[in-house]
Amino acid sequence: MRVLGIETSCDETGVAIYDSAQNSVTHLLHSQIELHAKYGGVVPELASRDHIQKLLPLIKNLLVDNGLTPREIGGIAYTAGPGLVGALLVGSAIGRSLAWAWQVPAIGVHHMEGHLLAPMLEPFPPSFPFVALLVSGGHTQLVQVDTIGKYTMLGESIDDAAGEAFDKVAKLLGLGYPGGPAISKLAQQGNPDRFIFPRPMTQRPGLDFSFSGLKTYVLNTWKTHVQDEQTRADIAYAFEEAAIDTLMIKCRRALKQTQLKCLVIAGGVSANQRLRQHLTQLANELHVEVYYPRPEFCTDNGAMIAYAGYVRLKAGQSEALNFSVHPRWNMSLLS
Ligand code: KG4
Ligand code: ZN
Repeated sequence: MRVLGIETSCDETGVAIYDSAQNSVTHLLHSQIELHAKYGGVVPELASRDHIQKLLPLIKNLLVDNGLTPREIGGIAYTAGPGLVGALLVGSAIGRSLAWAWQVPAIGVHHMEGHLLAPMLEPFPPSFPFVALLVSGGHTQLVQVDTIGKYTMLGESIDDAAGEAFDKVAKLLGLGYPGGPAISKLAQQGNPDRFIFPRPMTQRPGLDFSFSGLKTYVLNTWKTHVQDEQTRADIAYAFEEAAIDTLMIKCRRALKQTQLKCLVIAGGVSANQRLRQHLTQLANELHVEVYYPRPEFCTDNGAMIAYAGYVRLKAGQSEALNFSVHPRWNMSLLS
């Protein structure tokens, strides 16, 4: 079965075809980064308008590039939430309409379930059960994954998400959007010994996160020092270390609590090279297996939606003609 996946929850228009017979995926992505960069963050109305313009041509190109016709598509999956409501409506309306026109089933996919399952597209996928650390621009969650649709929330951010913290810190240091890659790049020039920032909420028990205090700490440090290039790099280094170390401490705790031996990291921040280095060390030390998606499937993409949709369509699920979107959607409510 070939499933067309459509991702439009935020600022990337992603389309993909997952082919279950070959266990292969092919995808195209249009990023809106340039469109939003001058505003320092995503402007929802501009995002929706751009998805409208880009989505159908991308789908057409994807089919042509792969020598496929609509008749060879067996189902359509689109992101139904969480995300920006206007952006979600574009993908849902087009996905649902194409499914009606092509006479195939359609399914609305949970964006974070898409991220969670993205490592399944790799040559050596994880097997259930596992602990997943989902770190994106909108979410920071530790989840116990027993099988598809059986998700127990172990902890999550009570304020900013990890990616959001990278983006806000980048903005206040005068770096570009999105902040994650910009901070990472600059941190390479940072002096590791100059600043040590706090690891929020690691002193008390539990698996929740909080990143907004760390952001304020960065702001105060930046305001009270000479604002030159070296200080900017030193702060970027100290912030990245503190954010990653905080994630590591909570992963270690989650693995201990659940006694599970497999850890999956997904979402935009999982593209971070330093995070991956730290995780590899943690995995070696604890004798656990660690799995990530390839970097292009860490950030938003259509491939993860096509795969998650395939899994659910195969299980017999599908969406009625009167589709709906869920800008806020708790993943533990899935089944
Ligand atoms: O998963 P994603 O593409 O979109 C959401 O679902 O939110 O994640 C985007 C987030 C942004 O906040 C971006 O700054 C962050 O992922 N990100 C990174 C890196 N690449 C992207 N954060 C840290 N290091 C990176 N290399
Ligand atoms: Zn995402």
